[in-house]
Amino acid sequence: MSDAQTILEKQRRYLWPNHILYYTDPIPLDHGDGMYVWDVEGNKYLDFFGGILTTSVGHNRPEVVKAAQEQTARLIHCSTLYPNENHVNLAEKLAELAPGDLQVSYFTTSGTDADETAVVLARAHTGYQEVIALRHGYSGRSAMGMSLTGQSGWRIGGTHIIGIKHALNPYCYRCPLKMSYPGCDVACAQDVEDVIKTTTSGRIAAFLAEPIQGVGGFITPPPEYFKIVQEIVHHYGGLFIADEVQTGFGRTGEHWWGIQHWDVVPDVMTMAKGIANGFPLGNTMTTMEIAESMVGKGLTISTFGGNPVALAASLATIEVMEKEANPEHCAEVGAHLRAGLERLQERYPVIGEVRGKGLMQGIEMVKDRKTKEPATKEIAHLFEETKALGLLIGKGGLYGNAVRIAPPLTATKEDVDEALEILDVAFSRVQEAM
Ligand SMILES: Cc1ncc(COP(=O)(O)O)c(C=O)c1O
Repeated sequence: MSDAQTILEKQRRYLWPNHILYYTDPIPLDHGDGMYVWDVEGNKYLDFFGGILTTSVGHNRPEVVKAAQEQTARLIHCSTLYPNENHVNLAEKLAELAPGDLQVSYFTTSGTDADETAVVLARAHTGYQEVIALRHGYSGRSAMGMSLTGQSGWRIGGTHIIGIKHALNPYCYRCPLKMSYPGCDVACAQDVEDVIKTTTSGRIAAFLAEPIQGVGGFITPPPEYFKIVQEIVHHYGGLFIADEVQTGFGRTGEHWWGIQHWDVVPDVMTMAKGIANGFPLGNTMTTMEIAESMVGKGLTISTFGGNPVALAASLATIEVMEKEANPEHCAEVGAHLRAGLERLQERYPVIGEVRGKGLMQGIEMVKDRKTKEPATKEIAHLFEETKALGLLIGKGGLYGNAVRIAPPLTATKEDVDEALEILDVAFSRVQEAM
C-alpha cells in the first residue's frame, strides 16, 4: 500500500493541477466504515460531509456492498438498449417516493447529466429555449452545467450556452435588494418575472433551482418563495425543475424531497449524489405526459446510465433509508444538530448565520456580525483545526466562507454530539486567534 507522501507526489505529477483538494496537507483516504473514514496513515475521521452529501447511508454499508457485489458477479453492464430488472424496479420505487405525477425516470450517471437532461426535456416539451436559473446556484461541470451555475468561480471559460439568465437569489442573510424578511414581501421572487420580461423573448422553457443551494452554502429561501416563482414560471410557459441533487432522499427532514417544504410539486426533478451511496447514478424524473414530448424529437442514449450495479446499490440504499434513515429520522437528528449549532452561534461571534434544514446545516462565518465581512482566513483555520481533531466538514458559498455540515443520513444524535464537541473546540481556537 502506498503511503501518503507517495500518493500526494503522484497526484502532483499525474493529475491535472486544478483538482481542488481540501486542507494544507490533503488527506489520502483509504477505507470507511459507517460514519468514519481512515486515511492511509491510519488516522480516523468522523465524516460530516459524507463525500459531498453522497454517502447517504454510511461508508461500506453492508447491505449496499452485498447488493453491488452480487450484481457485479451477475452482470456489470448492459446499456439502456436492453431492459433490466434493476432499471425498472428502481424507477418503480422512485415513482412511489416522488411527489405528484412524477412517475417516470431517465437514469444517467451524474448530477450534471441529470440537470442537462432536464433542460433538454423542457426545451423539447415547451418548444422554447430560454432558461432561468438562480444566482449562487450550482448545476455541474459541463458547458450547460457551468452556464446554469450562478457563481463566476465555477464557470471556467465564461458562459458557454446562450439563453440562460440568472434571477436574484433568495439569500435573506445578504438580501440582494437590501430588504428584510418578512417586510420585504419576498420581493426577490418577483425578480423572476422581471428577468423573463426584460432579458428573454417572454416565453421560457424552464426555471431550474435547488430548493436549498448546496455549493452556494446551504442558502435556504423563505417559505413563500417557490410557490410565487412557480406561478410566474408557468405563466410564461416554462417548466419548474427542482434540482434535488443535494436536497433529495430525506436529507432535509420530514419529506423525501427538499422542494416539498415549499409545498410545490415541480414538473421535473433531478437527483444524483445520495441516490446510490456513492455509486455514480443520476436521474431525471417527470410526468409521463412531459416525457412523451421527447418521443420523435431525436435519438438519445446514455451508455453507463441505468448501470445494473449502480441501480442495485441504489435499491439497497433506499431500502436502508426507508428502515432507518427516513425523512422523520433526518428531521429529528437534524433538529438536534441545529440546536447544537445555534448554541455555538451564541458563544462564537464568528458564526454569522446558521441555516438549512434537517441534516443539511450551514454556518456562514463572518469577521464581524455588523459588516458581515466574509471570514475566509478563519474558515481555513477552522478546517485545519477540525481536521486535527478528526472531523471532516465541507465548504461552500460565493465567498468561500460557509461551512457545510451534512453527515450520512444514518447519523445518530450521538454522532452529532461527537461532531458538536469537536466544532466547539475548533471554533473556540478560531475565535481566540481573531
Ligand atoms: C445541486 C447540484 N446539482 C448538480 C450537481 C452536479 O453533480 P455532479 O457533480 O454529480 O455532476 C451538483 C454537484 O455538486 C449539485 O450540488
